[in-house]
Amino acid sequence: MAMKLLSLFACLLLMSTVTVQAAGTPPLPKGYLNWQKSVRKVDNDKKSLFYGIHYIYADAKAMKGYRAGNKFPEGSRIVIEHFTIKDTPTGPVEGSKNMVVLMQKNARYKSTGGWLYAGYTAHGKPSGLDPVKNCFECHLKDAAARDYVFSGIADFK
Ligand code: HEC
Repeated sequence: MAMKLLSLFACLLLMSTVTVQAAGTPPLPKGYLNWQKSVRKVDNDKKSLFYGIHYIYADAKAMKGYRAGNKFPEGSRIVIEHFTIKDTPTGPVEGSKNMVVLMQKNARYKSTGGWLYAGYTAHGKPSGLDPVKNCFECHLKDAAARDYVFSGIADFK
């Protein structure tokens, strides 16, 4: 009996984890364009995923996390708007928006370091990227010691 209860409990626990992971991509947070905006970031490396121009937007909780040296409180949200790049004689300028990504601190997302990762099209529709393969593996590899967040407070000056 005890064993049965225990396995039922384990099963429920597993199901709730699976449900969280499969719950799908949340809509992009409304009003993120009014959050704290980073400096303009230009990536000229054609081999990079972020080749182009982007801006990082951080909500009030995320700003606390940046100020604390990348220790982010539960609920922190960070969005990147990404644009293509056009080279002009006076330097690179923004082309069209082509990608939006979101990280949201949520302790239930254990397999991705306690962060939800989601990718969107320019129009804010979920783009069906895999949060582990397409996102977390890279953030884990190079930003694990920074709470998985590459950028820092210096990007918001
Ligand atoms: C190949 C590595 C790589 C992959 C894959 C990747 N990222 Fe990132 N991500 C970065 C780097 C590098 C930065 C820092 C950009 C900067 O400083 O302007 C970043 C920044 C971010 C930020 C801003 C917070 C931070 O860490 O600085 C968010 C949000 C983000 N990525 C979400 C995602 C999502 C969602 C995916 C998957 C759809 C993803 N990333 C895939 C490397 C990656």
